Amino acid sequence: MITGGGSGLGLAMATALAAHGARVMLVGRTPARLDSAVAEITQAGGDASACVADVRDYAAVQAAVAATQARFGGLDIMIANAAGNFVVPVAEMSPNAWKAVVDIDLNGTFHCAKAAYPALRQSRFGGRFIAISTTRALDGWAGCAHAAAAKAGVMSLIRSLCLEWGGDGIRCNTICPGPIAGTEGVKRLYEQQGNAAAELAGVPLRRFGAIADVAQAALFLCSPAGDFITGADLVVDGGRARS
Ligand code: COA
Repeated sequence: MITGGGSGLGLAMATALAAHGARVMLVGRTPARLDSAVAEITQAGGDASACVADVRDYAAVQAAVAATQARFGGLDIMIANAAGNFVVPVAEMSPNAWKAVVDIDLNGTFHCAKAAYPALRQSRFGGRFIAISTTRALDGWAGCAHAAAAKAGVMSLIRSLCLEWGGDGIRCNTICPGPIAGTEGVKRLYEQQGNAAAELAGVPLRRFGAIADVAQAALFLCSPAGDFITGADLVVDGGRARS
């Protein structure tokens, strides 16, 4: 199950997993987007379904987990990918703007973990819980303090889950992408702000990431190659300079 699976990085991760035999449940807020993502994966020979849910709504996330179990007979991997972000300095940020992003990014990730736990601990393969974060969470992130704080919370949550769920065989990790070309994030956070070139200049590998770079990281963590990895942040950012 992957939240925010109807587009962008979520769809790319789902597509890569489906291409390697995973049966995927795409979860998101927009039915039309989910339908076209399911069609895309199905046409490529994968097995995909969709479920509408907002990660801020715990009951809806629980229902999506139940739908996944009903459709596929279990749940082995939960990827908490759905996120919200926009650029606004703290001096101009309303309390509701702060809450909107923390609700999606941090509370939504907790909802996914909590709802998935009973199913993940029954996985025959060793359950996987993956959340998406960013190294910006630890560096400080001017203009996105809400998302940075929420993602730092996600990194902390992963460490606690690693300790609490290791005995259940559940591997809990984050993937921390840098700017990924063609995503809503790069558009909102860099192109619309006019600082894409400056951001690129800080990437030692001299390119923005490709969505495939993140998809391959998810595949790695979910494969047997990830069997002994838990409590880790897998940074996929071309070595971006830390501020
Ligand atoms: N700048 C400043 N404040 C903003 C803002 C912006 N660009 N966008 C939203 N806000 C504020 C709103 O003004 C509101 O605060 P207020 O009630 O004090 O006016 C608060 O945030 C909530 O806004 P609302 O539009 O009701 O929230 P929402 O929950 O419907 O949607 C997001 C907010 C973040 C979830 C929305 O942008 C979204 O759906 N994003 C999903 C995709 C995404 O963000 N991708 C980013 C990848 S980096």
